[in-house]
Amino acid sequence: MKKILIINGPNLNLLGDREKNFYGNTSLQNIKSICADKCKKNNMEMEFFQSNHEGELIEKIHSVQSDFDGIIINPAAYTHTSIALLDALRATAKPKIEVHISNIYAREDYRRKSLTSEAVNGVICGFGEDSYLLAIEAMNKLIYNKKL
Ligand code: DQA
Repeated sequence: MKKILIINGPNLNLLGDREKNFYGNTSLQNIKSICADKCKKNNMEMEFFQSNHEGELIEKIHSVQSDFDGIIINPAAYTHTSIALLDALRATAKPKIEVHISNIYAREDYRRKSLTSEAVNGVICGFGEDSYLLAIEAMNKLIYNKKL
């Protein structure tokens, strides 16, 4: 069975408490559990990871090349600042999807530029926690070459 990594950047551990107007009431734990269900239905195993530390995120991305068949990443604020995350993503040839809970293009100017998106197959944003579920469907297509 194919295995994917779902990786979450800084402050996403606070989902459910943090800026609910942008991110809703759902906790990261809840997102993990709906992603696990969705992966099962899509014939994929999943590992779910969160860190507030750039270096830890980078090292986890490095593991994708040898240990996973694809990566779904919400780089959170590092989306807009981290060339190091961009380079780490570029270093893996596996399918890559960037997700955001909020629509980053409808927010502050500094959120409208995603550095990390230059390294991914596609970006899904603005659908709340469903952004992750849509990304899992898209990943299924990329990995198994299936129709949506
Ligand atoms: C986010 C959007 C980012 O701009 C922000 O820094 C986050 C969350 C999202 O999922 O909407 O922390 O990645």
